[in-house]
Amino acid sequence: MVDESLTVIVREFDVNKDRERVEAVEMSCEVGPNHKLSLFTNMFGDPICRVRHSPSFLMLVAEIGEEIVGMIRGCIKTVTCGKKLSRKSKQYNITTHTNQIPIYTKLAYILGLRVSPNQRRMGIGLKLVNEIEAWFRKNGAEYSYMATENDNLASVKLFTDKCGYSKFRTPSILVNPVYAHKIKVSPNVTVIPLTPSEAVILYRNRFSTTEFFPRDIDSVLKNKLSIGTFLAVPSGSYSTESWPGLYKFLLGPPYSWAVLSVWNSKEVFTLQVRGASRVKRALAKTSRVLDRALPWLNLPSIPDLFSPFGFHFLYGLGGEGPKSVKMIKALCGFAHNMALERGCAVVATEVASCEPLRFGIPHWKMLSCAEDLWCIKRLVEDYSDGSVGDWTKSVSEFSIFVDPREI
Ligand SMILES: CC(C)(COP(=O)(O)OP(=O)(O)OC[C@H]1O[C@@H](n2cnc3c(N)ncnc32)[C@H](O)[C@@H]1OP(=O)(O)O)[C@@H](O)C(=O)NCCC(=O)NCCS
Repeated sequence: MVDESLTVIVREFDVNKDRERVEAVEMSCEVGPNHKLSLFTNMFGDPICRVRHSPSFLMLVAEIGEEIVGMIRGCIKTVTCGKKLSRKSKQYNITTHTNQIPIYTKLAYILGLRVSPNQRRMGIGLKLVNEIEAWFRKNGAEYSYMATENDNLASVKLFTDKCGYSKFRTPSILVNPVYAHKIKVSPNVTVIPLTPSEAVILYRNRFSTTEFFPRDIDSVLKNKLSIGTFLAVPSGSYSTESWPGLYKFLLGPPYSWAVLSVWNSKEVFTLQVRGASRVKRALAKTSRVLDRALPWLNLPSIPDLFSPFGFHFLYGLGGEGPKSVKMIKALCGFAHNMALERGCAVVATEVASCEPLRFGIPHWKMLSCAEDLWCIKRLVEDYSDGSVGDWTKSVSEFSIFVDPREI
């Protein structure tokens, strides 16, 4: 006879019924053992917050009797997986700067997989992945991918050994603290805020062939969490007063320029470092007090990461020309000051491992992750129209587009 109390049921998350129990599992997974430092996520009582801005999403929970023992989130969207040569594109009334156009695919993303520590190695993680993949297939996704730390053995083994995923890309998460003082932005650079509509035109025109570029870029840039897109140009080329508009800019851009957009992750969830000693906390506090009192010294003070803190995520970083690294650096300084005004403790971004602009992105090694491991799997046998083969076998590009909706 089957003992019903031991049967694992996987079903859709029900906010009214499951919220508190899901939060309890989340907490038990995030607080590390042996007083080591661990990162705790506060989702403001909304466990779906990390996927809710995607065009299509689902959260599943695993239940044994009355107890929730695991969960998984997934989302699906259309992104660029390659490019091909085209006759001149008339789509946006502007000729693209190259003669390449994107190839799109329907891509699913798995995130927030958690199993209660005392229920692990019972096949629950595997069951959750299988169930969410069934939903991906039903909704026409051609590929599925997930991101994890390179040294998360349980997660890497689950996906590569048991679920058929292969290691795909290793982008870097770059995190910089927000100091108590403002950063001086180079006087050789002018920063011009773009309207969301201008940003859509710029991104579509220049970056639509970038790997992982979302076809619904307009809904990303026009989302209320996207708090601005900023263009850096050499001083003297344009000012905010003489800005001629994006169409004219695209017809004759200056010799170097860069762009980035800012996503207000602080509104979605906060983080908190737990397990730090009193000494570490006191040192951080002292550095901030000094920095606030003597801002002209430009002390690299340590923000308060030991209470819940928010952050801004920089996305859509790009640029052209020999000075584009300097332009990105100026934009990062500008974004730092914006984060300071809005009470964030850190500014984060994620870029391809060989992204040429990364040299202009200030970050602290101790807060960053040099290799975030992305694993991918093909979900279907057939290729869609226009596809040029198996994306999972393609070589890395210099740049990727990291969607802020799935951070
Ligand atoms: C990763 C995690 C979800 C796995 O859940 P789980 O229910 O224990 O996994 P399963 O029992 O389904 O394991 C399936 C396979 O994964 C691999 N695996 C799982 N845990 C492992 C571990 N600790 N060490 C090595 N391999 C492991 C094994 O191949 C295992 O098969 P086996 O038991 O037959 O050897 C769980 O460890 C967890 O919640 N970790 C903390 C949060 C996390 O890291 N999430 C992943 C982020 S993407």
